[in-house]
Amino acid sequence: MLNFDYPKRIQQSHILDIPKLEHLIECSSEQLLEIEHVAEEIQASADVLLVIGVGGSFLGARAVIDACTPYFNTNNVEVLYAGNNMSGAYLTQLLTYLESKEVYVNVVSKSGSTMEPALAFRIVKKYMEERYGDRSKQRIIITTDGNTGLLKEMAAREGYRQFVIPTEVGGRYSVFTSAGLLPIAVAGIDIHSFLCGARQAETDFAVDELNNLAYQYAFTRFELYKEGFVMELLASFEPRLNKLHEWWKQLFGESEGKEHKGLYPSTVNYSTDLHAIGQFIQEGSRIMFETLIHFEEVEADVEIPFTLDDRDGLNYLAGRSMNAINATSKDGVALAHEEGGVPVIKIVLPKLDAYHVGYLMYFFMKACVISATLLGVNPFDQPGVEAYKKKMVKLLKGDFVQVNK
Ligand code: PA5
Repeated sequence: MLNFDYPKRIQQSHILDIPKLEHLIECSSEQLLEIEHVAEEIQASADVLLVIGVGGSFLGARAVIDACTPYFNTNNVEVLYAGNNMSGAYLTQLLTYLESKEVYVNVVSKSGSTMEPALAFRIVKKYMEERYGDRSKQRIIITTDGNTGLLKEMAAREGYRQFVIPTEVGGRYSVFTSAGLLPIAVAGIDIHSFLCGARQAETDFAVDELNNLAYQYAFTRFELYKEGFVMELLASFEPRLNKLHEWWKQLFGESEGKEHKGLYPSTVNYSTDLHAIGQFIQEGSRIMFETLIHFEEVEADVEIPFTLDDRDGLNYLAGRSMNAINATSKDGVALAHEEGGVPVIKIVLPKLDAYHVGYLMYFFMKACVISATLLGVNPFDQPGVEAYKKKMVKLLKGDFVQVNK
């Protein structure tokens, strides 16, 4: 299923006490039916689903939606995002864009009190009420912790429909819950297939350490880290995977980077970044290793045409497919980077579809938890994120002297 090639450094197997991931794929068939039912309603009544959330509460859905829908998709409901920035320009222009569209809103916040989505929702709620009146209640859907939080209280007070993120599942591990599944289903992606891939990975990566690729990936990164390769570059050659990179970056960054430890997770999108950061990767500071993701089969391909004059000198490629050339370029990049002193891990999956994306995301989550355990840090908390929030709120409340006035 998942083919894994890595720099052979690992000699020993570690016996680790890995935290259990038993709630990750916790979605009953009733919940799934309800998600599909609401998704169908949105598909029938809306042009746009606006997902309001930040961090783990939206990156997973966006990653899957981008990876599994066509590049230029005019058939499905357009999924847009807010609450992940505090740009007044973004929100103003978003609301203007929405004027000519039928809109549903899904607010996704586990805690229900994160500043960025809460502010965006305050503005969007007003917009929806002014535009749709009482019907806005039907068009606003809340996804939050099942037990507590301001958003849960607000949903009950206002009569919004509610989906639950299990209390045990943190934001960056929540893509297999309703937090990810509702927007993914609205985008027209088969959520059963997505979950099926994740469940297969859950089975495959539950086995003992020696035969477990999630362990091997985690061990390899840990060994490289100890050798001084303190940065991991996740790379792929398919632009549809850019947002999956972002999800991965957040998963590993927030799970591992604490107590002054952890690999810095960075991402590159090829070919674009070969002509941007490629020089540094090949010849700059030797601090990084690279993890290449490749899907063998990608929907849609095009053949290089033959030309009589061959003015661009590319007739030697005539008749070959673009995807095949892309795959060869991946092999060339791996060879060059290895030669330049950048260890390369290769992760290959058969097909870019919902099933294999679900499989890969579970693989990364499992590996991330193992990896954090190897580092001796808690993979599920993010205490450092509080620091900026405290400073920001203090400034907003006027407790600091405005030094630049
Ligand atoms: O992964 C995480 O736990 C975080 O990135 C959260 O998802 C993010 O901070 C948003 O939190 P919340 O869903 O509570 O609004």
